[in-house]
Amino acid sequence: MKTTGLGLIGAGRMGNLHTNALANVEGAAISGVYDIKPDVAKAFGEKFGARVYASAEELAHSADIDGVLVCSPTPCHPEGVAAALHANKAIFCEKPLCRNKASAKKLLNAGEALGKPFAVGFVRRYMAKTHELKKRLEAGDIGTPRFCNIDLPLGMYKRMPGDWFADFDACGGVILDMLAHHIDLANWFFGKPVRVYAASLLLDAKQPEPADYAACVVTYENGLICNFMASWWRSGRTGEMMEISGDGGSLIMDGTDDLTYWQKGREKQSIHTQGENAHKAQMECFVNSIRGTTAPTATLRDGYNSLVTALAMIESAKTGKAMRL
Ligand SMILES: NC(=O)c1ccc[n+]([C@@H]2O[C@H](COP(=O)([O-])OP(=O)(O)OC[C@H]3O[C@@H](n4cnc5c(N)ncnc54)[C@H](O)[C@@H]3O)[C@@H](O)[C@H]2O)c1
Repeated sequence: MKTTGLGLIGAGRMGNLHTNALANVEGAAISGVYDIKPDVAKAFGEKFGARVYASAEELAHSADIDGVLVCSPTPCHPEGVAAALHANKAIFCEKPLCRNKASAKKLLNAGEALGKPFAVGFVRRYMAKTHELKKRLEAGDIGTPRFCNIDLPLGMYKRMPGDWFADFDACGGVILDMLAHHIDLANWFFGKPVRVYAASLLLDAKQPEPADYAACVVTYENGLICNFMASWWRSGRTGEMMEISGDGGSLIMDGTDDLTYWQKGREKQSIHTQGENAHKAQMECFVNSIRGTTAPTATLRDGYNSLVTALAMIESAKTGKAMRL
């Protein structure tokens, strides 16, 4: 089998994580890298045996590269994606898709015209527990879902001024950076969101140190109400939980591999799930989509839909008004 060559744009935390995950995917490897910091690219190239390119365009146009991983900071995604689009290469773009709606629309139009796979990094879609939860919702295990609570506290946020993760204009705060994942899951499970109301600190620069909090309520076309809470704080709990309740029971997915299931009138049960590492599964799916044997589980359209809802949350928090989607 011919090795599937991948090019990496942005050799930071996620770039390294995906490269390590790819080491376990047969017949695929990062063969080229571009990072805006030449020393970072050089160190990455030496560590992983990847050729260092002088620009994203040069990397994307290389004949060795079958697909491009865009892992630069969120506001830089459009330029990385544009390079891959010009070269007509398959694309994996980290979430969130980008920082604003105008860029997202351009990416959606150009990406859907590409005729090549375009995946977005919603890694939770590649977890066995997420699939089990979706299967049980579709099988009617909790009857008609009526509400959902999403709880995503991070009590050990350490970012300081100067870090792009502490700059609201760059990262979009806890809404765009963290809730993007769970907004995507909620869209996948519940369908179209229609109304959004949110309050958030939006990384308020008047605080002594960068920190964020968001409380958002989204109503879906089918009437389901979803309550999203996320924080980047310097004390308190860290964890994640998604609780979905319906006429016939409740299902909870937390940070473990086990789901908790309460069927109405019965004792609670623990449902164990086991799958391969989700980051590996995500890379394997992207590589197989380049080979034409599968399609990405989280697509460009999913990335766009999550972004639009997250941006509506931000707009609602800024204006104090409920937003219609
Ligand atoms: N899927 C997830 O669970 C998850 C988790 C964390 C971060 N992310 C997302 O992944 C992306 C990258 O995050 P990270 O934590 O790896 O960031 P990072 O800061 O660790 O790494 C970013 C790298 O990109 C480089 N870079 C900056 N501008 C560039 C440009 N214009 N072109 C090429 N390289 C550039 C930087 O030098 C750095 O090496 C972000 O969009 C972030 O929101 C996703």
